[in-house]
Amino acid sequence: MGIYLYNLEQIERIEKACKVAAGVLVEIETAIVEGVTTFELDKIARQFIAARKAKPAFLGYRGYPAALCTSINEVVVHGIPSKKTRLNPGDIVGIDVGVFLDGYFGDTAKTFRVGNVDENAGVLLRVTEEALYKGIAKAVPGNRISDISHAVESHVASHGFSAVREFVGHGIGAALHEEPSIPNFGKPGKGPRIYDGMVLAIEPMVNAGTYKVNVLDDGWTAVTEDRKLSAHFEHTIAVIDGKARVLTAGKNGVKSTFDSR
Ligand code: MF3
Ligand code: CO
Ligand code: CO
Repeated sequence: MGIYLYNLEQIERIEKACKVAAGVLVEIETAIVEGVTTFELDKIARQFIAARKAKPAFLGYRGYPAALCTSINEVVVHGIPSKKTRLNPGDIVGIDVGVFLDGYFGDTAKTFRVGNVDENAGVLLRVTEEALYKGIAKAVPGNRISDISHAVESHVASHGFSAVREFVGHGIGAALHEEPSIPNFGKPGKGPRIYDGMVLAIEPMVNAGTYKVNVLDDGWTAVTEDRKLSAHFEHTIAVIDGKARVLTAGKNGVKSTFDSR
């Protein structure tokens, strides 16, 4: 076991899976309109993934029944797509997708607005995405895993939000979830050292109120205990030549390389 260090050839293959996952989010964004069901979004994702000869990584994972997690408003993560669940104006919806291609996995998530959202929701989305990039910037050799955790938590806390503790980021590559686990909270300078060759899924889940979550009776859907809003952003990154490279960057001019200098 332990933490796997991937060579450049392997990372290129992981990146191919990651690009399909990123493409799903680009495709899904155009379908996020008032009235669409989360089942329809899942169908679009399945078709997009199949057309690229890839497989949805979540489908069948511990019995999970869909390709996407679609997490609306107070749902933190693992919302299950359903024909009964429609997007309403003012909602925020987290879309998380995992892809398996040519032996390797990619994993990415983004929380979208449905039409116009209120100001607090807008701030929550902005701060959560910023926290992701603050975490990514710490994913460099010389740092330790909890430097990522601490960067995420301090940014979130400085805006009065809370970082979820029950779910964590993770190593990824030959498996969807590998060591190390990457909490979104904690003191800096702890946990494994970061080296070139690590491939990590960094994924802050941020709540407007309490960090506490409940899992609903379906065994999957995680909601905030106080039923206030929650947001989730995730990238798969690789540490290469002393820098974090975002493998799941989309085509939206997202900066793809970060360093700590
Ligand atoms: N949300 C998890 C992640 O990003 C994966 C969900 S697995 C599923 O790592 F089966 F719940 F979909
Ligand atoms: Co994910
Ligand atoms: Co993940």
